[in-house]
Amino acid sequence: MNSPTKITVIGLGYLGATHAAAMAELGFDVLGLDIVPEKIQKLARGHAPIYEPGLDELLGRHVAGLPGSSGRLSFTTSFADLAAFGDVHFVCVNTPQRPGEYACDMSYVDAAVEALAPHLDRPTLVVGKSTVPVGSAARLARRVAELAPAGAEAELAWNPEFLREGFAVEDTLSPDRIVAGVTGERAEATLREVYATPIAAGTPFLVTDLPTAELVKSAANAFLSTKISFINAMAEICEAADGDVVRLAEALGHDDRIGKKFLRAGIGFGGGCLPKDIRALMARAGELGAAEAVSFLREIDAINMRRRAAMVELTRESLGGSLLGKRVAVLGAAFKPDSDDVRDSPALNIAGQLHLQGAQVTVYDPKAVENARRVFPTLAYASSAVEAAQSADAVLHLTEWREFREIDPAAMGEVVGERRILDGRNTLDPELWRKSGWTYRALGRPTA
Ligand code: UGA
Repeated sequence: MNSPTKITVIGLGYLGATHAAAMAELGFDVLGLDIVPEKIQKLARGHAPIYEPGLDELLGRHVAGLPGSSGRLSFTTSFADLAAFGDVHFVCVNTPQRPGEYACDMSYVDAAVEALAPHLDRPTLVVGKSTVPVGSAARLARRVAELAPAGAEAELAWNPEFLREGFAVEDTLSPDRIVAGVTGERAEATLREVYATPIAAGTPFLVTDLPTAELVKSAANAFLSTKISFINAMAEICEAADGDVVRLAEALGHDDRIGKKFLRAGIGFGGGCLPKDIRALMARAGELGAAEAVSFLREIDAINMRRRAAMVELTRESLGGSLLGKRVAVLGAAFKPDSDDVRDSPALNIAGQLHLQGAQVTVYDPKAVENARRVFPTLAYASSAVEAAQSADAVLHLTEWREFREIDPAAMGEVVGERRILDGRNTLDPELWRKSGWTYRALGRPTA
């Protein structure tokens, strides 16, 4: 490979669209591929298929054909075009949980490799970024060499991605570490060239074998899930013992071996990553005969799911023991703020459970209403927090968008039926709400 300046990205979702735009920002010519033509059409107009802060601006700077753009980023649906164009091919397709199983669905990754490899007729590097069960990279490396006309000159590396939704652009341009799982020096050199800018800026570049690289990602998400469920388990104890989990977390966080981050107690973790990644790790460990090593993750998962049920129960109890016919306003549908992603969203899941148990639920989210409506068409949706709160018997704060922290409790108090606020994210100020005559309740702080 002479000059690996040409990069391709397969799969243009949260991961791929951001990676493609970031690679163009770093100065590379990039060709992105997705099998969904509508996604390509949208991207070609400079619009991300998802809501992600800063991504549309980045696309606007680089998508070919847009006024004033660098022209470095274009799109295709053809694998033949992709192979002809690129020296380094990033695989960024998703690996969702298989319906009814813990294991993840590798069919998109497999299909991408099967479609690309037969066109690889010169020295190339295929780089996996998707989160996969350990052992996949070695299998895919063999498959690439088998199918590619270039044979062993078509190599595969694994380079897991650690970006957070809501911070995807920032995390991709300045990652906190780069992990390169490789089988040879050439692949390492290529990846060092691709990431020369962040490396020069001080980002640690860690070279590992293929299985370790795959495992870094699974382990990171397992650790983060464990941290969240740990504090949520402490919230359950606080509920039983009249403690305050927010103060507890604050006090724990001052120990820098523990740290403050990911100790926010509430309705727990959701999204397209943490829940399915811990389940996929359990499934893979089982296949490897190491199930016992991660059996604790079953408990992490159970604690997490219990928090959703606890929020439903807190609502029922606050409403005097029955949800039937009660009007409930739900603030938030996305699994976290600054995202329109509702995959396995605790907020939407709770809204759905309340609705199924007889409450009249109206949901508002700054960005995720359209996606939520597709998943739960039977819920009512509002176009503002105040509209959702009209005549409500209880207002539930379930995704901690900044605009919800800025709500004026006095103004909202004018439109509700009852001034009852239930904070599922522990980010509202109880005193502020109480001053305006609201009853404030939260998970894990019965006395707050
Ligand atoms: C997560 C990881 O943080 C990323 O490093 C990783 O790259 C990504 O998964 C992935 O595998 O692709 P993300 O799903 O965007 O990123 O969201 P997080 O910020 O990790 O939050 C996950 C969930 O945990 C959210 O529902 C959030 O509300 C919840 N959470 C987070 C808490 O309940 N408490 C906390 O203290 C932190």
